[in-house]
Amino acid sequence: MNMTKTPSIPSKPIPRFYFILLFLIIFVFIYWFRSSHSSSSTNGFADVSQLPKSSLFTYTNISSQVFYSETQGILYLPPNGQSAHFVSLKSKAVRGNHRHKDNENSISGEVIILLQGQFHFRIGDGDTNQYEDHQFDACKMGIIAFQFSADKCHALKNIGKNTNWFASYYLKSKEITKPPVDKEGCKKMLLT
Ligand SMILES: *[C@@H]1O[C@H](CO)[C@@H](O)[C@H](O)[C@H]1NC(C)=O
Repeated sequence: MNMTKTPSIPSKPIPRFYFILLFLIIFVFIYWFRSSHSSSSTNGFADVSQLPKSSLFTYTNISSQVFYSETQGILYLPPNGQSAHFVSLKSKAVRGNHRHKDNENSISGEVIILLQGQFHFRIGDGDTNQYEDHQFDACKMGIIAFQFSADKCHALKNIGKNTNWFASYYLKSKEITKPPVDKEGCKKMLLT
């Protein structure tokens, strides 16, 4: 019997186009994997150099006030003498849309610590009606703390699907029991 050569697969070289396509897919995949799995945070805290810049607030280093337990989660303890409030925010809910202003300036500043979730933050000047909008994802960016003067209008909205958590405390210039809250002065920049 005459052994005929088995027909071989046509040995046309694979077009270069497919190699380029393959490398492109691998590259895009690695890029996607890196950006979705490595948060830009250092030890759970957001990398401030990657966060949006603002003229209305500054970022605060709270690394010595936060304690993390693998089994329990995050504990935030404010600096000595400051009583913080911890606040949850349901999906799509808004808090704030106010400023803390009285004749004595009894509250000089406020610190807000975004512990978990996706937030929309609006901060503005109720006297000039200029404001800024920022979005923060504490799950991706890490824990974010910022400080602003209490006469700035401020509002936080949960733009995620789950309940968010944040903490906050006032920088007081005198001892007060009830913080002054002014909603009227902020009604031109309501976050809804
Ligand atoms: C924040 O403060 C801690 C000490 O409390 C320090 O080790 C750390 O480097 C500071 N981080 C930044 C980004 O300045």
